[in-house]
Amino acid sequence: MKFFLDTANIDQIKDAKDIGVLDGVTTNPTLIAMERESPEELYSTISSLVQGPVSIETVSNVTDEIVKQGQSFMKYGKNVYVKVANTKPGLKAVKILEDSGIHCNVTLTFSSSQAFLAAKAGATVVSPFIGRLDDISQDGMALIAEILAMYKPYGYKTSVLVSSIRHPIHIVQAAKLGAPIATMPYKVLEMMFKHPLTDIGFARFMKDWDSVKDKIEQKSIAR
Ligand code: E4P
Repeated sequence: MKFFLDTANIDQIKDAKDIGVLDGVTTNPTLIAMERESPEELYSTISSLVQGPVSIETVSNVTDEIVKQGQSFMKYGKNVYVKVANTKPGLKAVKILEDSGIHCNVTLTFSSSQAFLAAKAGATVVSPFIGRLDDISQDGMALIAEILAMYKPYGYKTSVLVSSIRHPIHIVQAAKLGAPIATMPYKVLEMMFKHPLTDIGFARFMKDWDSVKDKIEQKSIAR
């Protein structure tokens, strides 16, 4: 499963890249609004830092405007995916952009019927928001299972990008379902490292190694 970071924060992206787990980045207007730099600065820096796909979100619900915005995003790099909301004007734009060779990520997807339409429009990826569904007492992961099962018999090329991830269990469950991509906040990536037994075990090994070093020192003094 590919790991994307759901952020527009350059330091977080650099850190995930250094760890060696960064396959791509997804941004959205809310994430851009959290940063000090201008959208242009962020898009240009992120797309040059990241080797894999970088999703940049369009901000219109008029087909022609979405297409124009999407085309203009391509100046940031060949790895840019145009993020388009799952609406009727949005999916019309996706068809036009994909037909012209521009990859689209259909975002704000909350149902299997919406995901089916995204695939028929030719989207490269579809982003179902599982955390926001969980938030309103609907089973977000069940939606991922349904979309994967629904796409399979038809051989759609659209990849399911599991979005709105809240915790590491979401990652594990998505992987067990065979989802090809998950995009997570930096906080979730950090949580994936954590295990109290690792911390306890590591502290013990370090302490015991200190006693080994003490013994070696005492022996060399005795000689
Ligand atoms: C996906 O591309 C979105 O940017 C993101 O996953 C939304 O997540 P949120 O529900 O945590 O805002």
